[in-house]
Amino acid sequence: MGFPDTRLRRLRQNEALRSLVRETRLSPESFVYPLFVCPGEGVRKPIGSMPGVFNLSIDEAVKEAREAFSLGVKALILFGLPETKDENATGAWADHGIVQRAARAIKREVPGMLLLGDVCLCEYMSHGHCGIVKSKEVVGVREYEILNDPSLEILARTAVSQAKAGIDIIAPSDMMDGRVAAIRKALDAAGFANTPILAYAAKFASGYYGPFREAADSAPQFGDRRSYQMDPANFREAMREIALDVEEGADMIMVKPALPYLDVIAAARDSFDLPLAAYQVSGEYAMIEAAARNGWIERERVILESLTSIRRAGASIILTYYAKEMAKKLA
Ligand code: PBG
Ligand code: ZN
Repeated sequence: MGFPDTRLRRLRQNEALRSLVRETRLSPESFVYPLFVCPGEGVRKPIGSMPGVFNLSIDEAVKEAREAFSLGVKALILFGLPETKDENATGAWADHGIVQRAARAIKREVPGMLLLGDVCLCEYMSHGHCGIVKSKEVVGVREYEILNDPSLEILARTAVSQAKAGIDIIAPSDMMDGRVAAIRKALDAAGFANTPILAYAAKFASGYYGPFREAADSAPQFGDRRSYQMDPANFREAMREIALDVEEGADMIMVKPALPYLDVIAAARDSFDLPLAAYQVSGEYAMIEAAARNGWIERERVILESLTSIRRAGASIILTYYAKEMAKKLA
């Protein structure tokens, strides 16, 4: 070896040394665990494209929350599968909506668990879009438009009803313009000035959401989400999306999906001083599970590597379907 001596391998000789100099650590406190709550009792319905993830009735969601909490997971994000869907997403903002009822039950049974509410309309709309749809006939062809401003009102109503039900953090994922400001205003007016907003600020129109749409029964019945979610090709636009949400009053910001967008996460960490979350989405989960089931990758190793990379890129909060399992492992 020449001089200066650049033996980086000196610090890699054994695990004790490696862990002493490790720059990035995972801890259960940074995980948020997504739950899909459905009607019924004693329901624990497996999701085909997400082995290990279930649709849970409220009683089962309470059990899952209790178990996760005992393993060190301190935050859940709730998604709802309503009994019925319509064109006004009534189930999203009803006082007795599925998420509202689940939130009350979990708050009561697992006090101390932080509850995030995903605020979107797609699960509650008969057409599966994240906003109000206007359809019209143009030269004999049916066309659809997702209306921005009329959707804001329903999103704001949804946020307020979630806060009333005990949701601690409001997390809008719809990607309508101006939703953070609309939600902030509505929360303040309803007496929830202290309820924070975690904005899904840079949410891309991603193929990685496929399995989620099976889990949440929220696939659009026509068209796709490209007229409101972001083009995966656009980095600078992601910075504008985040800047706007911050201006509108977001308390925390999110990049989604996570692993394919580490550049966006790293830049968001650099450019904004708010707590930064990343969502390791359903497709990221499904790919790991599928490859592992085929014996093509070492499952746990890849899970840890993915989560570590998301953390290393700069996300301090990670929404992950592995939250419970990894909390147990990291304990
Ligand atoms: C609802 C919503 C979606 C996800 C979170 N909130 C689906 C979508 O936008 O189609 C995706 C989460 C995942 O894939 O794990 N808008
Ligand atoms: Zn949606």
